[in-house]
Amino acid sequence: MKVRGRGVGAVARDASAMRRRVLHDKYFRQAKAEGYLARSAYKLKQIQEKRGILRAGMRVLDVGCAPGSWLQVASEIVGPRGMVVGIDLKPVEAEMPANVRTVTGDAFAAEPEALLALAGLDGAAGGRFEAVISDMMPDTTGAGDHYRSVEACRSLLGLLPRLLRVGGVFAMKVFEGEEYPALLKETAGLFGQAKGFKPDATRSMSVEMYIVGNGYRGGGAAGGAGGAAGGGKA
Ligand SMILES: C[S@@+](CC[C@H](N)C(=O)[O-])C[C@H]1O[C@@H](n2cnc3c(N)ncnc32)[C@H](O)[C@@H]1O
Repeated sequence: MKVRGRGVGAVARDASAMRRRVLHDKYFRQAKAEGYLARSAYKLKQIQEKRGILRAGMRVLDVGCAPGSWLQVASEIVGPRGMVVGIDLKPVEAEMPANVRTVTGDAFAAEPEALLALAGLDGAAGGRFEAVISDMMPDTTGAGDHYRSVEACRSLLGLLPRLLRVGGVFAMKVFEGEEYPALLKETAGLFGQAKGFKPDATRSMSVEMYIVGNGYRGGGAAGGAGGAAGGGKA
């Protein structure tokens, strides 16, 4: 009699799915208990813990900000002297702290000067955000999501000269795939350093990755060779 057993691979996949489920539930419960609007809050917290991108007093643009948990986390870090401006296709419905302003709309159709003005910055006079963070995620269809995500990231890189000050910091979400190394290299060309980072809180979406850049050099032309690129997962 032939006994059919499940392969080692299937058992490992089950264990990995179980671990993702446990982490998903953990951060979901933690977000509820700590008053965050989404468990995404812990992705930004972990980026902050590992890379220390935000500081008190900063003016920050949060692209793809709804429902608003990154706004909550960034608001806590920048404090009353700082300001966080968020933009999303969907409205942010929850009440936000006093140092947060939100706009409903497409980040690629909005006038950068209008976003800067919400943080008290004069774009015409060279005012720019000190940090741009993006958790933006184009609608997922299961086909071509990686390419849509990379396209959105490249469009965002193209906007940086009008949004981010020289020396500024940057973090953006991307779905990993074949274009990821090229995107990381392009980002590295614009920053003193750019590295990939996968927060523990993101494991339930295994293709989700963040590129974190420090020391913006100015310019938005992709493909530069400079910068220290690294794809290390923390
Ligand atoms: C994962 S959610 C962001 C969650 C948010 N960081 C939080 O912590 O609450 C991704 C968001 O990106 C937004 N988005 C996608 N494309 C966009 C675009 N072109 N302009 C503005 N927002 C966009 C979506 O509407 C969605 O709300």
